[in-house]
Amino acid sequence: MNGTKTILICDDKKNILEVLKDFFEEKDFSVLLSGSGEETLDIIRTEIPDIVLTDYKLPGISGIDLIEKIIHIDKTLPVILITAFGSIPNAVDAMRKGAYDYLTKPLDYELLYFVVERALEQKEIYAQNTVLVEELKDAYGIQNMIGKSPEMIILDKMINTRAGSSTNVLIEGESGTGKELIARTIHFNSKRRDKPLVIVDSTTIPDNLLESELFGYEKGAFSGASSKKKGRIEISSGGTLFLDEIGEMEMSLQAKFLRVIQEKQFYRVGGLKPIAVDFRLITATNKNLAVEVENGKFRNDLYYRLNVAKINAPPLRNRKDDIPLLVNHFLEKICKREGSLKKKISSQVIEKLRSHDWPGNVRELENCVERMILFSEGDMVTQPFLITGKTSQIADGEINREFHLDTIEREAIIKALDQSEWNKVKAAKLLNIGRKALYNKINKLHIKPKQ
Ligand SMILES: Nc1ncnc2c1ncn2[C@@H]1O[C@H](COP(=O)(O)OP(=O)(O)OP(=O)(O)O)[C@@H](O)[C@H]1O
Ligand SMILES: [Mg+2]
Repeated sequence: MNGTKTILICDDKKNILEVLKDFFEEKDFSVLLSGSGEETLDIIRTEIPDIVLTDYKLPGISGIDLIEKIIHIDKTLPVILITAFGSIPNAVDAMRKGAYDYLTKPLDYELLYFVVERALEQKEIYAQNTVLVEELKDAYGIQNMIGKSPEMIILDKMINTRAGSSTNVLIEGESGTGKELIARTIHFNSKRRDKPLVIVDSTTIPDNLLESELFGYEKGAFSGASSKKKGRIEISSGGTLFLDEIGEMEMSLQAKFLRVIQEKQFYRVGGLKPIAVDFRLITATNKNLAVEVENGKFRNDLYYRLNVAKINAPPLRNRKDDIPLLVNHFLEKICKREGSLKKKISSQVIEKLRSHDWPGNVRELENCVERMILFSEGDMVTQPFLITGKTSQIADGEINREFHLDTIEREAIIKALDQSEWNKVKAAKLLNIGRKALYNKINKLHIKPKQ
């Protein structure tokens, strides 16, 4: 653990205080001593210790009341209670009031040290998580959805109203239009923002594992299930479940998932006991689900349940006025990440970017800005580094069997994967497609690393 930690020890017996002081100083703690509950509270208000160790039996306010008061001042401060062997029921009561742990006399010093260290570790993890969650909340404030076009203003309004309720939301939009960003923004602006946001992408989990990932399983449910495991549905309880690429879900699993939505309970795989859940459901797809339903590829009843509120993520070509704003946003973000000075982009380049059609939408634009920053020399970007279809990679000649689109795709993907040493995120960037689109194509075209 980093840095010297301060332990505050409270006991009315001077000799005990001295022994504990020596013990913890030996372990490199900074030690504060107190002879009563009142004094302990005074110290906590002024000295900010990292942990408190207190005897149960104190003159004046009791150990139990002391715990309650400490938690009231600082609920992240762990308190460890020391009790006489005969008063374990009191100790249990103290745990209920919020004590971290209790130890009985005579004290086992190694155990005491272990418990103190564990409490401090947990406190650190908790503090880091809190910071992370706060950062996430900042990152997904509505102000981070960049764009002032009419399409974006409508989108902002929809996100705001959806964030305020707990209805199911279906987000439809082409690849790279910001569906995941919308889902996160809804969650982090909703009442459930302090609870988990669990993201499940049907396309990155093999079909045969998706069910157990979602529902969890009981010990022995299948060979390999050596202990029980919570599924993502269960983990999302109280928070939001975001099912990405829902259009890819198999029909049989669609039926099982529909039941969870209807009954608000589910069974772990191999489980006999129903488990109640309360999650807010957000789904996304780059397909038109109504058409999928017509074609018999998606269950009508499930579609009806998901589609309580629909959000259409507009393609970038329909909101080209947002391009300069987005370019600036990515420019700042990427320069900050790269630790480089902010480069400028010439107005001619911006004009060229505006006239491009952006089939890969915002993600394509983001990748393009990244290329501009990495490949341009000097402070001013004067070339758009666009990848357009015009510089055809197919040699002159007719389209025949050898020029089957799958073959060309396959070659391009293998080349990009080789070039990026099978780092799929990098390969997807090279190919100017989303990571998930790349996973899909790798699966579809059965591409495997060379042996
Ligand atoms: N309005 C926006 N403002 C700022 N950044 C955006 C906006 N829309 C999308 N982005 C960024 O573009 C990238 C792609 O967005 P996202 O992953 O949410 O798209 P998607 O629709 O889920 O794509 P896919 O279908 O490929 O999964 C992300 O880096 C996201 O932060
Ligand atoms: Mg996505």
